[in-house]
Amino acid sequence: MCGIVGYIGENKARPILMNGIKRLEYRGYDSSGISIIEDDKLLCEKSVGFVSELEKKISGKFNEGTSGIVHTRWATHGAPTIENAHPHIDCSGKISIVHNGIIENYNYLKAKLEKEGHTFTSETDSEVIAHLIESHYDGVLEDAVRMALNEVEGAYGLAVISLDDPGKLIAARRGSPLIVGIGERSHYVTSDVAAILEYTKEVVYLDDNEIAVLTKDNMQTTDIDNVQIEKRVDEIQWNLDKIEKGGYEHFMLKEIYEQPQSLSEAMLGRFEKDSNLVHLGGLKDKENDLRNIRRIIIVACGTSWNSGLIGEYMIEEHLRIPVEVEYASEFRYREPIIEAGTMVIAISQSGETADTLAAIHEARKKGALILSICNVVGSSIARGADCGIFLHAGPEIGVASTKAFTSQIAVLSLLTLFMARIKGKEEVLNSGLASKLIEIPEQVKTILDNSDQIIEIAQLYKDSDNCLYLGRGYNYPVALEGALKLKEISYIHAEGYPAAEMKHGPIALIDKNMPVVVVATTDKVYLKILSTIEEVRARGGRVIAIASEQNNEIAKLVDHVLYIPETIDALVPILSVIPLQLLAYHMAVMRGCDVDKPRNLAKSVTVE
Ligand code: AGP
Repeated sequence: MCGIVGYIGENKARPILMNGIKRLEYRGYDSSGISIIEDDKLLCEKSVGFVSELEKKISGKFNEGTSGIVHTRWATHGAPTIENAHPHIDCSGKISIVHNGIIENYNYLKAKLEKEGHTFTSETDSEVIAHLIESHYDGVLEDAVRMALNEVEGAYGLAVISLDDPGKLIAARRGSPLIVGIGERSHYVTSDVAAILEYTKEVVYLDDNEIAVLTKDNMQTTDIDNVQIEKRVDEIQWNLDKIEKGGYEHFMLKEIYEQPQSLSEAMLGRFEKDSNLVHLGGLKDKENDLRNIRRIIIVACGTSWNSGLIGEYMIEEHLRIPVEVEYASEFRYREPIIEAGTMVIAISQSGETADTLAAIHEARKKGALILSICNVVGSSIARGADCGIFLHAGPEIGVASTKAFTSQIAVLSLLTLFMARIKGKEEVLNSGLASKLIEIPEQVKTILDNSDQIIEIAQLYKDSDNCLYLGRGYNYPVALEGALKLKEISYIHAEGYPAAEMKHGPIALIDKNMPVVVVATTDKVYLKILSTIEEVRARGGRVIAIASEQNNEIAKLVDHVLYIPETIDALVPILSVIPLQLLAYHMAVMRGCDVDKPRNLAKSVTVE
């Protein structure tokens, strides 16, 4: 949520900051703003709407400065207005800050600062930081930042510049990601590596309560008590082409089509040569603990929660370990029971989702072993876990998660196979899970290569107001995911249900205007789901079925069939979700929606 970029160095700051922030726009896009130090002045401009609006406003200006900060916002405190957009500036007009996160005690701090004579111009919590730094400033910017942050409660990723200390850029982190990039006689600050990949691949991930003082040539890191800290320099493994559209109209479509590759990458180097034995580097040191796990709780949000549900079915079926799947936001506040032998698996594409992060903190306090399944290397959840597995899906920019979902299921399958190996469960190793998983990327490609019919179906139903998604067993979470995709990018009201639940309520909604998407692959509940289809048809509903290839029978019962290749039940979701991703995408595009930046949403939800 929200994006930060900062720069200090030999080059002109403006193009670097603007290129960077455009790449972060997917994280928040209701307003933006920039501050640059130029000719002994602190220049600042803000605008409401997309970053392109800000770009227009500063066209031909801000050309000379070599240090500055920029921000794109997703509103929490105060509407998306010019006043509430970042950067926020102190009363002297010399200190400028950009902030991600929430300052929880801002009301108290604001009242205190107002009493001292500070004047506020926004409704945001963030503005207090600028005034607090001003109130502590005594000639050394980093000291003032440190003292200010000692008064603050809550979360921050923060970048600060000041006219009185023009050769410095200060970065600080607590609970909201912040990364320093190291370039040739220059330093960068960003909340997401995508912003600086064009300029450097050498990065330092700040940890909570750390402050970095950056000049053109130096970086000094301390903790909040001013104790020096040596930081490791990491190298980003992604290339620039991963964060560009590469000829596709939208990132979402590119990411849907990347799935054969992202799924292959999830498996790469994880199978022993020519065998069904899985090795996972991130779990190697915890094999003994993992062998003794007796209960698993999966915590996640949104799409990641949906994949967690598939994980529950898969792990219970194959490993016979009891699994519960919890919304991370609920887990945290409901006094969960964690006994010895409990493992908490946190699933998160971004690795920064505040609810999931808070859930693992809670789980840690209660003594659980924590395993993360994340896409973003260096993310807070990955770093906060005892062990973990990365998706290696490459950056996911489209706000609607697609390739991360299928990779999460692939990784949950690998985890199941890994656990089967260390527990000596031969029956699982020989169940076909491994051999069928290896076939999956090619099968996904077949679906994508034969997907034209989905565009025709999207055309027929694009003006619907509602849509129902039904599935059973492993396809129930797929129904949830299909509905989530459609509602978040097309704004059509959509609900996912276990198919048999339809008759307990949702059936009342069915008439000739209700498209019902039924995921009806040939599995052990196939005959049951045929009854549900009959019930929908009897009430005039229009049925779009996702079915296994070679099922000729179903076409006689439904309005449209989208066929997918055969695989084992546990892996069907990776295939059955693909037509649903494409259906949502095409319906949204036909309705004129901006699928990469759906209204009110942001890519990673770093607030509670
Ligand atoms: C998915 O399309 C959503 N935009 C959203 O539900 C997302 O999956 C959720 O916010 C969790 O994100 P995470 O995987 O990064 O933790």
